[in-house]
Formats: sequence, structure tokens, C-alpha cells
Amino acid sequence: MNTGHGYVTDIVYSSGYYVEQSPRLMALVALLTGQHARMPGPDEAFHFLDIGSGRGFTALVMAVANPGWTVTGIDFNPAHLAEAREMAARAGIRNCRFIEADLAQFDDAELPEVDAASLHGVWTWVSDAVRAGVLRLLERRLAPGGLCHVSYNLLPGWAGMVGLQRLVRETGLRLADRADRQVERGFEVVRHLFGPLGEATDERTRAMLQMLADKPSAYLAHEFMNADWRPCFHADVAAAFSKAGLSYVGSSHALDSIAEVTLPPAALEMARKFSDSAMTELIKDVTLGRPLRHDIYVRGGSRIAMVARDDILRGLTLGLALPHSQRRLGIPTPMGEIGMNPAFYEPVFARLAQGVASVEELLSLARPSGASPASDNPAELAALLVGTGQAVLVPAPGRAMTAPARALNGMMFASQAAGTAMTETVAFAVPALGGGFKMPAAGALAVLRQQERSESAVEGASLSLPDRDTIERWAAEAMGDRPEMRAALAIGMESFLRDSRSTLEALGIRC
Ligand SMILES: C[S@@+](CC[C@H](N)C(=O)[O-])C[C@H]1O[C@@H](n2cnc3c(N)ncnc32)[C@H](O)[C@@H]1O
Repeated sequence: MNTGHGYVTDIVYSSGYYVEQSPRLMALVALLTGQHARMPGPDEAFHFLDIGSGRGFTALVMAVANPGWTVTGIDFNPAHLAEAREMAARAGIRNCRFIEADLAQFDDAELPEVDAASLHGVWTWVSDAVRAGVLRLLERRLAPGGLCHVSYNLLPGWAGMVGLQRLVRETGLRLADRADRQVERGFEVVRHLFGPLGEATDERTRAMLQMLADKPSAYLAHEFMNADWRPCFHADVAAAFSKAGLSYVGSSHALDSIAEVTLPPAALEMARKFSDSAMTELIKDVTLGRPLRHDIYVRGGSRIAMVARDDILRGLTLGLALPHSQRRLGIPTPMGEIGMNPAFYEPVFARLAQGVASVEELLSLARPSGASPASDNPAELAALLVGTGQAVLVPAPGRAMTAPARALNGMMFASQAAGTAMTETVAFAVPALGGGFKMPAAGALAVLRQQERSESAVEGASLSLPDRDTIERWAAEAMGDRPEMRAALAIGMESFLRDSRSTLEALGIRC
């Protein structure tokens, strides 16, 4: 196995787009927690840095969907950079560049100041020297007031896996082979010792093993075969970032900041006895045993007056992220669901089903009927709709798909859906969203084929749904002589277009 600073380099990582890295989502969370934050428009000058950018999907999506931005990705694996640069060139994306550098000794003299940064899947997988390099980079190059997202494997959520990770890695190292084959051998030993589904482990470890069971070996190699993999407590990450002048803002998952939603009653009562955020976060992490955090930090943040904050939130535009029929008026919590007031939220969902709308307009819907005071609260509306995944920010309403975005989407689809049963989720870059939108691979294939049809249709004319023969032809082209998969794919494509088409079209995804 080849490594750089103990990190796997002989097999490429799996590819993906992660919405948590979006600077606009970071800004929304910061505003919700009362921090000043810049909500950059897609045509404004803005520099986003993806640290450890992997195969580059998130960086490329951000660049193609925000033509005014400059996006920089840094990674030291030349195979990752080659693929990312090739995709940028083939799609004609000119506002994104990828720098080949080792973060432990990156000379940032040539890098202009960045307005937001993200490191996804990096922090707990690399050595102290690399972590120090990341902090140096943030301290020197992240603009004052700039936000940074960092995801990491969490303690105590991973505690039960520490021994198994060591077992997998040590087993693998005894095999002179590539990291993906090493990790496969390591998991054979785990299955032999603890049963095919980890039956002989504790409940949390079993859940983790099940979650990992269908992950590709390339992903597992980058998760389990690094020399310096160490899950962390939140307080230790916050302390390290604080040395670089960054302080904790909140979680990328908007509802996480609402302790009433996140915590069971006893834990909530205890959290309220302490006023510091590190203690609240520790109580959450210990109680919930979750394995991963997505934190947002600010470099020199300042508080924003609530009136000014609410004005910004009222001006945001939201779009429905799922078909209206799939809306839920419940927020999942550890104690079951908390209901969302139907008198307020039903009209909101009904309005969004007609197309995108501003938070201001959505708030006004329930006011005349004298709904609860919460209905005057733009922060609650945005947090609940975006935090439950039922709405997305739409910074460029009405903006159509561009040729570079379409080209990128075709390439990302080919890369992500290759060899899968089309049940995976894949991402599309969407200019109206200034970011990506995830959908099942079967649905994405249907959208891509519909977009090919739309190229020959009259501009602006509505596109008809494909007939059964057309859908079956598309499925046959994708699945060849695997009749069962072909049939399942055809059903998946047909139902996706039928159920999701109006939702997608409202977001600028013509299909
Ligand atoms: C788990 S992957 C995550 C990639 C990407 N952020 C994503 O989520 O798809 C970690 C990435 O960090 C990169 N990396 C690890 N150590 C590095 C170092 N010392 N310098 C630069 N990049 C490094 C790896 O090459 C890899 O692409």
C-alpha cells in the first residue's frame, strides 16, 4: 500500500457531492445562530476553498452553479486531481482550479484570500502535521468573518469501532496489496470473529457495521486503512480551531442547534444547567452516540442584531425539495416526532407546490388567520423547512440549466451510477440553486434522457412525458441483458418523472 503522511494514496476515493460544504448553507446556519454571515449571490465575486477536495465533485458543482465565484480545490493525490481537472476541462468550467499540494507543507503564498472553506472527510483521517497545515492555511487565508465547514468521525460514537478499525488495518497491512483489497481482507476477519452482520458486537457497533456493509471497498480503504485515523470529541476539534482564531458557530444540520429537537428530556434538562456550548455539544454527542459531525466555524465572528438578521432571512427564496405529496408535518427527534403546526405549514407547502417563494411571502400566508406567533418567525420557518430536508435555498430563481452544468451532470452521473443497481443517490449541479441537488440514480438517468429530448424541443415549450417504449429503451441501454434490473429501472424512471417533475421544474431542472 502506498501512503502519503500515512494517508491511503493507491486507490481513488469514492466520488460525491456534499451539501454541507455549501457556503450558502453555512451562512444560513450562522444567521440562524445569530452570527453575521455573508450570503453570497451566484454572480458575486466570492472565493471558496475545498481542502482535501478528493475527486472534485463538490468544488465543480459550486463553480458551475455560481459563475461569479472562484473555487479552489487542494489535494495531494494526483489521480484525484487528474479526474477533477479533466471534468472541468470537458465541461468548460473555467472558474475552478485544483492545486496539487501536501497540506502539511503547503506554501499558500500564491493563494488569494478565501471567503469560505470546507474540509469534508479529512480532519480525523490525517496526521497531526497535516492538521497543523490545515489550521495554518485557515489562519492565514480565511477572510475575517469567513466560515469554515469541517466534518469528522466523532467520539464516543466511534468508540466501539476503534478496536475493529485497528484489527482491519493490521490484517490488511499483512497483505502486500492495494488498500481496497487489504480492507476487504480485514473485514473478512471481522466477520469471522463477530458474525456476518457483527451479531457478536454491542448494539451501536452492530449498527455501524451494518451502515458500512454496502460501502464500496475504495470508500472503506480511505476510512479504515489510514495510519493516523483518530475519531475526536467535538471539544477537542473546537479547541484546535480556536488556536487558529476560529470559533464554533453550529452544525450544518440546521435543526441540530435546537436542543429541544435534538435531545431527550433528561439530557435537555442537564444541558440547560450549563451555559457553554462545548458542554451542550458533549451531552448531545454522548446521548445520541452519533458517528459524524458537520461543524461550522467562523474566523472572527460577530453577532448580528435580530431585526437585521430577520430581514436577511425574509429575503431568501425557498423551493420545495420533494413532491408535495411527500411533505411531512413532523420533525423526527429521539423521542418521536414533534408536529409542525398544520394551520401554518399546510398553506406554506401548498404555496411552494406552485413554485418557489420568498420567506417573506410564506410568512404572510398564515398571518391574516391569526396563526401562532411562531408564524412570524423567519428563523423558525427556514430552519424547519431546510433542516427537515423539505426545502432548499434558491438564490437564482428561474435560472435555467447551462451547457457546462449539463455536461458536468452527465459525467458525474456516469461516475457515480457506474456498476450500481441505480438505487444510489447521485447529484446534479443546478444553477438556480447555486449548488447541487441529490436524486436517486434512476431518476437522474430519466432527467438526463429527458434533457436530451428537450434539446430538440422548442425553447420554452413544455416537454411531454416519455411513453412506455421510450422508457424501456432507456432502461435497456443502461442495463443491457439484465432483464430484472431493466424492469426495475424502467419502473424507477417512470415513477420518478411522474412524482417529481413539477418539483424539479420549479428548481430549474427542466424534464
Ligand atoms: C476521505 S477523502 C475526502 C475527499 C473529499 N473531500 C470528499 O468528501 O469526497 C480525504 C481526501 O484528503 C486528501 N488528503 C489526505 N491527506 C492529504 C494531504 N496531506 N495533503 C493533501 N490532501 C490530502 C486525500 O487525497 C483525499 O482526497
